[in-house]
Amino acid sequence: METFRDDLLEGQVAIVTGAAQNIGRAIALSLARMGADVAVVDVNLEKAEETAGEIAGLGRRSLAFQVDVTDGAVVDECVQKVMDNLGGVDILVNNAGITRDALLLRMKEEEWDSVIAVNLKGTYNFTKAVARPMVKARGGRIVNIASVIGVMGNAGQSNYAASKAGIIGMTKAVAKEFASRGITVNAIAPGFIQTAMTEVLSDKARESLMALIPLQRLGESSDVADVVSFLVSPAAGYITGQVVHVDGGMVMA
Ligand code: NAI
Repeated sequence: METFRDDLLEGQVAIVTGAAQNIGRAIALSLARMGADVAVVDVNLEKAEETAGEIAGLGRRSLAFQVDVTDGAVVDECVQKVMDNLGGVDILVNNAGITRDALLLRMKEEEWDSVIAVNLKGTYNFTKAVARPMVKARGGRIVNIASVIGVMGNAGQSNYAASKAGIIGMTKAVAKEFASRGITVNAIAPGFIQTAMTEVLSDKARESLMALIPLQRLGESSDVADVVSFLVSPAAGYITGQVVHVDGGMVMA
């Protein structure tokens, strides 16, 4: 679906992390369709360049950056380059994320640390790096991609659940810090989204999953991208510190 096609974001610059593929790529393309120029950030440069090429094909400026979101110095440099080359930064979408699943008793320290580092510290690094220019500009939109797992928990994903619950808490705290500066900060908690990860599910696993989803289908990347588009649009100017569940009704709070 391409709900938000207007040029609502004409002249704005967005940074999307983890935008080389799947949900991040859909978000980056969606923002470009709304008129934004987009910095595509990922560890995977080749695929990030593909996304950037698609954005250029839509007539928007786009740059691909090979950045590991866990490295604060590299993140700072990236944001500076975005400002130098694209003229500012109005929108940040913290989407880069990984899983390293294991039951807690078997979870290696490295599996815990790497998930917290990418998902949570990566979000801190980019948020901090864009905060100064956004505060100076007295405006900005930040959207953090959390997960239903950060709300419900899931056996075998204590590291991932902690990172995503951390993102939700951080979203609310930062929303309060930046509200007086005209910057909104919100989170999206996607449910099960159709990606390479969910394509390999057996019929049985798929069936038991459907029992949890009132809308009876997996989500599409575009379901998440459409909500990002809304949250960064002028229509969402009075919304901050919220967690929007995009999960087919799995969590109703
Ligand atoms: P994906 O694995 O397809 O894409 C994640 C992207 O992040 C990849 O391009 C990867 O190269 C990049 N990345 C990983 N580590 C990085 C690092 N250190 N620095 C920069 N980039 C890095 O994942 P998917 O499914 O598109 O998920 C995107 C986000 O949505 C993640 O935060 C994930 O936790 C979240 N999510 C996904 C759900 C799903 O069902 N697929 C459900 C709920 C949340």
